Amino acid sequence: MAEMTAAGAASPLAPAWLGVPEDPNRLVPALWAHDVGRGPGGQLTVAGLPVAEIKGAYGSPVFVLSEADFRARARAFKTAFDAAFADLCGGVDVYYAGKSFLCTAVATWVREEGLRLDTASGGELAVAARAGTPGELVGLHGNNKSDAEIARALELGVGRIIVDSLDELERVAAIAAARGTDTPGSEAPRAKVMLRLTPGVHAHTHEFIATAHEDQKFGLSMAPGTASAGFAGAATEAPASMAEEAVAAAAGHDSIELLGVHCHIGSQIFEPEGFEAAAVRLLEFVAAMRSAYGVALPELDLGGGYGIAYLPGDAPRPPAEIARALAGVVRATCDRLGIAVPRISIEPGRAIVGSTTFTLYEVGTIKDVVVDLPEGGGTAVRRYISVDGGMSDNARPVLYDADYSVALANRTSDAAPQLVRVVGKHCESGDIVVRDAYLPGDVRAGDLLAVPGTGAYCWALSSNYNYLARPGVLAVRDGAARWIVRGETEEDLLSRDMGA
Ligand SMILES: Cc1ncc(COP(=O)(O)O)c(C=O)c1O
Repeated sequence: MAEMTAAGAASPLAPAWLGVPEDPNRLVPALWAHDVGRGPGGQLTVAGLPVAEIKGAYGSPVFVLSEADFRARARAFKTAFDAAFADLCGGVDVYYAGKSFLCTAVATWVREEGLRLDTASGGELAVAARAGTPGELVGLHGNNKSDAEIARALELGVGRIIVDSLDELERVAAIAAARGTDTPGSEAPRAKVMLRLTPGVHAHTHEFIATAHEDQKFGLSMAPGTASAGFAGAATEAPASMAEEAVAAAAGHDSIELLGVHCHIGSQIFEPEGFEAAAVRLLEFVAAMRSAYGVALPELDLGGGYGIAYLPGDAPRPPAEIARALAGVVRATCDRLGIAVPRISIEPGRAIVGSTTFTLYEVGTIKDVVVDLPEGGGTAVRRYISVDGGMSDNARPVLYDADYSVALANRTSDAAPQLVRVVGKHCESGDIVVRDAYLPGDVRAGDLLAVPGTGAYCWALSSNYNYLARPGVLAVRDGAARWIVRGETEEDLLSRDMGA
């Protein structure tokens, strides 16, 4: 192997944000489930269970989820938002965003912890149904819901369909009407609908941008002049918006019960300002619709997007802080507009499940690669550590340039920190698991690595690229593990191949 970076010296290949850790064995608490630690011999443990036992019994790669941590984070959201909004609207409905990670066990925990469930497809609805989640606690999202998905949602009696377009609104109204739900005297409920609006506020991590027009596929635009050519609107000064047109259309359908409006402004958001700006725009819209059409919009959903720590320096705000800031803005805005505070709901996914889980990998090939430094600055060595998974179990680095951190899991080490890049086993040079991290310099084949923060949008986005079997998800609780989603087998992989 090429010469190792001296102890304590930063690699010239390291990004500016990555400092050399004094102790590369130390776990940064914000990155891990609260019951992950180091046990005897320095081995990583979760809820008291050592990773070598997990590897021995279940193999790798594997997603390892702390059930207690999931439940605690779910409860924390519900408690924090309920407390902040208690005297404004009696609390908050927290819908766990199933798209981040969903299976029947998770749907069950969500219900047991007093949360509701946000789904985004017929498949996610099927999981909710299998888990026995009462329909009224489920929401259905999606920018291109099929008629079958809409019909299924109505059959399950979902608490709300979040309508994403004028076209969908008409289809929901027609499908609900065809079920006889608009027959006077009928006992069948009307379709409960929220309208997803695009408020022109977009947030990511520390900043938000506010524009009139959003260039994206989701939602009904609130920007003036975006209504259909034939829609005049309620003769306000500004030309009508697509959002206003949807309110007018929904109010005209007997088969629809219009609950309110919704927005989702982005993901991995650390600061409350973007949520606040969106809340103000939506509340102003609520007030405008009341005076223009006499339509009440008694519910307001502010979406998900609350950020988590992926890297040692990340410091997202706790839910209670965001909840208090938001409640203050909602109260002040409703007072200013002279409207009642709507029932508030939110849809966190990542902030509940993201940090509950780490992915356990086994180290295989290690390669030191000599890399040219910019402007004739000589060369440096980058150590590539290959593991037994990769972009098929975590697509986020490839999809979003997402950064992760990593820890040596089966032992601690006194070796000096070494800059490494952890890569997968796929036939893609972009198959990166952890782009830049310091690990002890003596990591070798057969060691176990744990990548924290893989609970959200990892298993959910996993694939069979290169015919790798998708890893399962183990829930660990009180020192015992159980599959909540089993890993795929070679038989699973071949089961849909219909032969020659
Ligand atoms: C409408 C909606 N709600 C909630 C979420 C959950 O976001 P997060 O997991 O970042 O909280 C998403 C994510 O894309 C979304 O699109």
